Amino acid sequence: MGCELSKLAGTKSRNQAGNDGSSPPPPPPAATDPRLPLTARQKFTVIASWKAVSRALEPTGIYMFIRLFEENAELLNMFTKFRELKTKEQQSTSMELAEHAKTVMSTLDEGIKSLDDMDAFLTYLHEVGASHTKIPGFNRQYFWVSLP
Ligand code: HEM
Repeated sequence: MGCELSKLAGTKSRNQAGNDGSSPPPPPPAATDPRLPLTARQKFTVIASWKAVSRALEPTGIYMFIRLFEENAELLNMFTKFRELKTKEQQSTSMELAEHAKTVMSTLDEGIKSLDDMDAFLTYLHEVGASHTKIPGFNRQYFWVSLP
């Protein structure tokens, strides 16, 4: 009997979990794969903020490229399909640039979607990096230049 009572006393309903009747604190976030240099919170923030971007991949990509070329005009020369588009107006209405912007943004989208699987994520990242080593004049530092 005493034993049964003590079991009951130890069983709290959801509403009684905290002494003040409030909900229990959420469990700590699961640790991330050590190969990912982000905390669980940072990873969550990346995924959550990307959701808004993913609804407008193409326009966001076009905007990103226009900004990139505004700040680093010399990089435009590497893009054989639209290197002749020197003005912002030409760039913003180009089908070729839009197509490329969509491809790049979809690649980022796929990468972010695979953040829960580090093997898949790193394989994908290496593929994207390797594909750029074949581009004449490409320098790995450009990946940093492209950050906002
Ligand atoms: C931020 C990460 C990046 C991603 C995810 C990415 C993704 C891609 C992809 C998927 C392609 C192949 C497109 C295709 O086959 O049509 C590509 C091509 C290319 N990327 Fe990137 N890229 C990134 C950053 C950059 C940066 C920073 C530069 C240079 C400033 C760059 C320059 C190029 C060039 C010149 C091509 C070839 C375009 C062509 O077909 O003429 N990329 N990129």
